[in-house]
Amino acid sequence: MENLLVTGGCGFIGTNLIRYLLDSDAFTGRVINLDAVTYAGNPANLQDLSERGDGRHVLVRADICDAGAVEQTMDRFEVDAVCHLAAESHVDRSIRGPAPFVSTNLVGTYNLLEAARQRAGRIRRFHHVSTDEVFGSLGDDGLFTEQTPYRPNSPYSATKAGSDHLARAYHVTYGLPVTISNCSNNYGPYQFPEKLVPLMILNAAEGNELPLYGDGLHVRDWLHVADHCAALLQLLRQGAPGRVYNVGGDAEQTNLDLVTRLCDLLDRQLPALPGGRPRRELIRHVTDRPGHDRRYAIDASRIRRELGWTPAETLDSGLDRTVRWYLDNPGWVEQVRSGEYRRWIQQHYDDGADTEE
Ligand code: NAD
Ligand code: TYD
Repeated sequence: MENLLVTGGCGFIGTNLIRYLLDSDAFTGRVINLDAVTYAGNPANLQDLSERGDGRHVLVRADICDAGAVEQTMDRFEVDAVCHLAAESHVDRSIRGPAPFVSTNLVGTYNLLEAARQRAGRIRRFHHVSTDEVFGSLGDDGLFTEQTPYRPNSPYSATKAGSDHLARAYHVTYGLPVTISNCSNNYGPYQFPEKLVPLMILNAAEGNELPLYGDGLHVRDWLHVADHCAALLQLLRQGAPGRVYNVGGDAEQTNLDLVTRLCDLLDRQLPALPGGRPRRELIRHVTDRPGHDRRYAIDASRIRRELGWTPAETLDSGLDRTVRWYLDNPGWVEQVRSGEYRRWIQQHYDDGADTEE
């Protein structure tokens, strides 16, 4: 992997992945980060890497729905491996408006696969990053394995499921060296504060209400993003072409328990709320999300057994670090919540330059 194309590198997992790769002795190539810089992408996350001047991070602002731009990027930078993360990723947004999910997650993935197929001699790896949400909802027990049938319930998970099927088909039909991973809910630094963990940390820090959907007893499995990044690097290096890997943290929590833990961590790290009220009293049950999956839980024994991957972070240590990161980075929070980073993007790109090396 000398020229690794990472799509969606300005988003939450992409930012963490690129920082992880460029810090790792096991990756010596350069990263070409192709990102459309939607509301969820923040190029300022990686500005210091571009400014290092070693050429190991190149940002190309382009849309994966633009087949020509994808092909040009692959040729111009002699891309030999792909790690595909770019997606519309938020379930609530997909319920309000599925159209961009269909374009980016389905058509965009198709464009990448097709461009890779046409360059089959050069592309040695195509890793497709997906989610456990493609499997639908579990009952009180059981785990998702790599054999669990797909049963997506939201427009988001349905489009991710479709993209997984396309990626798989490109391996079976054309022999493209595709690997796929289905990972559970990630948390950690640089996550856009519409997702549960950063939303609740910031609301609780500020003494605002904490909206829990329905009874709050929906279960998710949580994985620190650094552990996901370690899994992705191992998959890029050692994953078997055509193979699918579940990735998860063995850390099931109800939303109510998770939000309560975050409140308690904040109570320990910040001054008390007026009247000395504990932050867990800010929790409010609100109308449930339509089609809300009840429980996700992952059996990650394949990637543990075959690649020796294991998460380094426990939920306690990971949440503690994550709360500290959001409290220690008010400038980042301010920026992504304001129009400031839109202006930053305009200054950097809308003068005609769409590549920053
Ligand atoms: P994110 O929403 O934080 O970031 C998505 C990135 O993709 C952004 O930088 C955005 O600008 C870019 N993007 C969106 N549409 C694009 C387009 N048409 N062309 C080019 N770039 C585009 O998402 P994330 O949470 O970092 O998730 C990354 C990937 O991991 C997604 O494929 C998601 O399905 C998958 N995943 C996420 C989680 C999670 O908990 N966040 C868990 C499992 C899998
Ligand atoms: P989210 O972070 O949107 O991830 P996903 O839907 O992909 O799992 O939500 C995680 C869980 O938290 C999910 O069960 C929905 C719930 N949730 C709330 O209860 N309140 C909120 O404000 C949000 C954003 C999510």
